[in-house]
Amino acid sequence: MASRFVLIENIRDSRPGKMSEAVEEEVLLPRHIKYAKRIMGVLPTETQGLDTSRMTILFFGVSGLDVLDGLSEVSCQDKADMVDWIYAQQILPNKSHSNLYQCGFRGGSFIGAPYQPTSSQNEVNISYNTSHIAMTYTALASLLVLGDDLSRVNREGVLAGVRHLQQKDGSFCSTAEGTENDMRFVYCACCVCYMLNDWKGMDVVKAAEFIKTSQSYDHGIAQGPLLESHGGSTFCAIASLSLMGRLDSTFSPAELERLKKWCIRRQQTGFNGRPNKPVDTCYSFWVGASLKLLGIGSLVDSAWNRRYILSTQCSITGGFSKWPECHPDPLHTYLGLCGLSLNGEKGVCPIHAALNISQRAADWLKTLHTNT
Ligand code: FPP
Repeated sequence: MASRFVLIENIRDSRPGKMSEAVEEEVLLPRHIKYAKRIMGVLPTETQGLDTSRMTILFFGVSGLDVLDGLSEVSCQDKADMVDWIYAQQILPNKSHSNLYQCGFRGGSFIGAPYQPTSSQNEVNISYNTSHIAMTYTALASLLVLGDDLSRVNREGVLAGVRHLQQKDGSFCSTAEGTENDMRFVYCACCVCYMLNDWKGMDVVKAAEFIKTSQSYDHGIAQGPLLESHGGSTFCAIASLSLMGRLDSTFSPAELERLKKWCIRRQQTGFNGRPNKPVDTCYSFWVGASLKLLGIGSLVDSAWNRRYILSTQCSITGGFSKWPECHPDPLHTYLGLCGLSLNGEKGVCPIHAALNISQRAADWLKTLHTNT
């Protein structure tokens, strides 16, 4: 039987004792298309813990398929059903508008909400019927990917819900019920405001200040002031400023230079998220996109980057994992594909690095903004 690995090479890997890996030569596009379609359908019982975040799993599936140029494999009816399901998760203002602060999208119907994709009122008399800012971001992104025109989005509700989550220091929580506040949710808020083309959802000056004060002593950016810099939070910060159009006005040229150096030092074979930590497929996106937004994407050693991402590709089920020989998962599959896109991989569509959707979907958004 022919080996499923066509290229065997030594890979420098920062995991202790892990010196070599077998690496596929090709990106197995049809298999990844199958994987993306699978995660849009029924998931195995082991994944029930993800039920409250089904919106993000749907996003990884549809946007992954889009980046693979595979959306034509989904029927118009299935696309329409997915759009309806997304709108059914929208929490709309009630008659008195007393729930405005909870508006936006939730991650699924776990709350026991009735299925009402087209109703003008989607009231559920449960105090936990509240939106989550990451679900609002991935809901809007998925709608764009599916070709929806966002006309059923209750803009007043969504923007009020987002605005309510901003804290005194400029950061954001994820839900009105109270959660941690950090850079991840600043990023989600920026994506929502950018997609709705309306920045009433935040105080941008305060948000930019929060980002600036989160630059750490080593010049990477953390989840908040005085915390450890990290590739994930660095992406969230750079992409947020880029969407606000404030990257160059928030950091001085010297600060940006030092930030660029911190980012480029994350490349080992693939990328890690912080010094002395293992490389991981997702950082080929988080850090790769940061480098692109900082204008130095060309400094990436694309051959090493590609080789690392491909070492985490599952040749049996499709999908990517964080490390070689681990189980693939929806997040690493999506970010692995986006990392390959940034790396210029043939057959993988270009992406909009700041919004983390295909350039095609971002162009559709631009058309919507131009026409409204
Ligand atoms: C692992 O931390 C954490 C990640 C791989 C996620 C990083 C990404 C973000 C913070 C951005 C998230 C953005 C949104 C919009 C939700 P670890 O400590 O297990 O791994 P490490 O050792 O690689 O640091």
